[in-house]
Amino acid sequence: MKVEQFRDPYLGTTWGELGAQVLTSGNKVGVTLGYPARGLADRLAVELAAFLGVAQVDLDVRFMAPAGRGFGNVKHVIAVASGKGGVGKSTTAVNLALALDREGAKVGILDADIYGPSQGMMLGVQEGRRPEVKDEKNLVPIKAHGIQSMSMSFLVTESTPMVWRGPMVSGALQQLLNQTLWDDLDYLIVDMPPGTGDIQLTLSQKVPVSGAVIVTTPQDIALLDARKGVEMFRKVDIPVLGVVENMSVYHCPNCGHENHLFGAGGGEKVAEEFGVALLGELPLAIEIRVQADGGRPTVADDPDGEVAAIYRDVARHLAARLWALDADAPQITMDDN
Ligand SMILES: Nc1ncnc2c1ncn2[C@@H]1O[C@H](COP(=O)(O)OP(=O)(O)OP(=O)(O)O)[C@@H](O)[C@H]1O
Ligand SMILES: [Mg+2]
Repeated sequence: MKVEQFRDPYLGTTWGELGAQVLTSGNKVGVTLGYPARGLADRLAVELAAFLGVAQVDLDVRFMAPAGRGFGNVKHVIAVASGKGGVGKSTTAVNLALALDREGAKVGILDADIYGPSQGMMLGVQEGRRPEVKDEKNLVPIKAHGIQSMSMSFLVTESTPMVWRGPMVSGALQQLLNQTLWDDLDYLIVDMPPGTGDIQLTLSQKVPVSGAVIVTTPQDIALLDARKGVEMFRKVDIPVLGVVENMSVYHCPNCGHENHLFGAGGGEKVAEEFGVALLGELPLAIEIRVQADGGRPTVADDPDGEVAAIYRDVARHLAARLWALDADAPQITMDDN
């Protein structure tokens, strides 16, 4: 059996079909995947050894982002969105960005929530800190916890009134996108403002987005809005990479009891209905809030912890989906001819 016939754990497709580069020599295997998978290397080595029927594989997992459809030196733009506000979009976005970084990718995060920017606070960027300006018009992203970031909150003061009209919002966002000097990114995570109105639609059309991730909580009302989110991206031909269910299970810190406060299996329902993947489920956990509020999101604060492991799994999963889309793309063009 050959390494190329090994089925990727996230995609169920063989590495050969996905176009992974494989080099073997004795029990040494080097594989280049289209998603960053540092945290998965040990598990892959064990599974690959079992698949090949050998005692041990000395596995070296590398990463090369699929050829992007992004802009400038940004390979892939990934929008993190939700229909409803307050479901944990920003918290999920920043933790996924950090998770992709820890897995081995070069990552930036753009806070597109012009009304209520929150990435500065969550990344622990000191209030009042301004990005460096180059050539009088370009902004140097602010580095925090290993990732590059840009947010409207870096440019306005608390006393600046945030009275924006729709066109101004898309204008401001476009400016943030075009005038930020991103330094060679594999992934730019965009933390979208809440809702599925005109502004969101315009933004998704103005930005070359490779894929979208929909965040939802399990309540019916949030699920309804998650459906609208999926439909909105479909309308503008942006692939939905999957759904993340946030605040799905509550672990009582005192007694260890688990409770589905908002009901169970909601994200799964939405995912099934629309034929998209359920990328993962994050618990309702006080530390997620405390860490983000304190400027050290969970994945930065405790990268090897239990909750960070879920974010890292979701991050690999969504990047793997993007890779699969890319692997499919040439076939689609061939069919068209
Ligand atoms: N899994 C979680 N467990 C506990 N608290 C969480 C979790 N996810 C998010 N929170 C908290 O819930 C609140 C809302 O989260 P967040 O700001 O990320 O939501 P949002 O969808 O971006 O909101 P908005 O629509 O206002 O932009 C924050 O206080 C955050 O710390
Ligand atoms: Mg937010």
